[in-house]
Amino acid sequence: MRLTFPEGFIWGGATSAYQIEGGWNEDGKGPSIWDTFSHLPGKVANHENGDVAIDHYHRYLEDVDLMGSLGLQAYRFSIAWTRILPAGTGKVNPAGLGFYDRLVDALLARNITPYACLFHYDLPQTLQDKGGWLNRETAARFAEYAGIVTGRLSDRVEMWMPHNEPWVTAFVGYGMGTHAPGKKNMLSAMKALHHVLLSHGLAVDSMRAAAKRPIRIGAALNLSPMYPASDDPRDQAAARRFDTLLNRATLDPLLKGMAPQQESKVWNWLAGSFIHPGDLEKINRVDFLGVNYYNRSVARHSRLLPFLGEMVEKVAGSEYSEMWEIYPAGMHSLLTRIWEDYHPTCDILVTENGVPVPDTLEPDGSIHDERRMRYLQDHLVQVKRAMDEGVPIKGYFVWSVFDNFEWEHGYAPRFGLVYVDTKTLRRTVKDSGKWFAGLIRQNGFETA
Ligand code: FCB
Repeated sequence: MRLTFPEGFIWGGATSAYQIEGGWNEDGKGPSIWDTFSHLPGKVANHENGDVAIDHYHRYLEDVDLMGSLGLQAYRFSIAWTRILPAGTGKVNPAGLGFYDRLVDALLARNITPYACLFHYDLPQTLQDKGGWLNRETAARFAEYAGIVTGRLSDRVEMWMPHNEPWVTAFVGYGMGTHAPGKKNMLSAMKALHHVLLSHGLAVDSMRAAAKRPIRIGAALNLSPMYPASDDPRDQAAARRFDTLLNRATLDPLLKGMAPQQESKVWNWLAGSFIHPGDLEKINRVDFLGVNYYNRSVARHSRLLPFLGEMVEKVAGSEYSEMWEIYPAGMHSLLTRIWEDYHPTCDILVTENGVPVPDTLEPDGSIHDERRMRYLQDHLVQVKRAMDEGVPIKGYFVWSVFDNFEWEHGYAPRFGLVYVDTKTLRRTVKDSGKWFAGLIRQNGFETA
């Protein structure tokens, strides 16, 4: 059977600054919390860090050429705040702006539409020293930075995402502590999340004021459909609670201008100290919604934490990648749920989807990543199914174009369509990359 996408559907790939750039202290760049965190012992597998990453900072032209040869129509990248403002605020570093200027020109010269994200976890260390996202002031600093970048690039960049995965910034960085800045306090995570979302809202104003041409401002969210482990009403209640904590935590403020926990007295009492009047109205402004989907989540009742519940770590009988359960149907249930519950008036894009596979470079220079191809196909079938049911999905971005630095896991998980040799940094297109290039040419593919 053939799966064909509507004309104009956007096919892209995604990366982020710290995961690919390297050049961590070059040309005036200041330190970010990921520079600090990855240099601490025991934070990243095998003591790896993003100092060099895949050296995209120096090889961006070769990388853009490669993307051009794959036929990518769009490229989602992030901008390192500390290249633009080494101290997070104050003096602008012209060399930092210059790098993204050249990157954007190189993309446009190859007919690749740039999708610029302004924050992918790499907060300036100087702002972390003043409390980071626990400090409401950080939201104002972010809006200034967002305005500066928009002023420079908006003559050529129309599509913007102030934030990638605000929930991960807050909960993995300030709650679980496995990401920078490595704090472990769930109440702090809630406060940090509000400030990140507020910074989106403030950035909408500064970006619109600075824009040279009409721009569109969206948000890329990590979302995961929440399933109860069984029909037991207690498991179902646990799934509803985790759905609020994980999905509604960002969807409700951004798409409804509502705090997700509005019905909870305890939450209102806690949040009263950091949600100020007018904040939610500011946050509730997105021109498009970016959905990052990798896996579903399963929750159940917990005897130890009866008022919360717990997540099921491994679902019996399910297939797992190096990082997560592989569950293509979750893509469909997530997209249709967003549509039914929120009826967003904005476009929806899948801004990340992909899988780590332990690829091997064969002696003849090929990489047969059949599992990745199947993963992408199975998920695209589900995207199309949601579209056929009326969900207005306008594009799909693979995570990732290149193998890169996968945060606390280091370089072991390989997500790319393009293989990167960790020693020589040589790039080789994988079978999945060739297949994706064919899909773009035909705007569809043959399903098995
Ligand atoms: C997402 C992140 C991205 C990458 C993928 C695997 O949550 O946005 O940087 O780590 O997961």
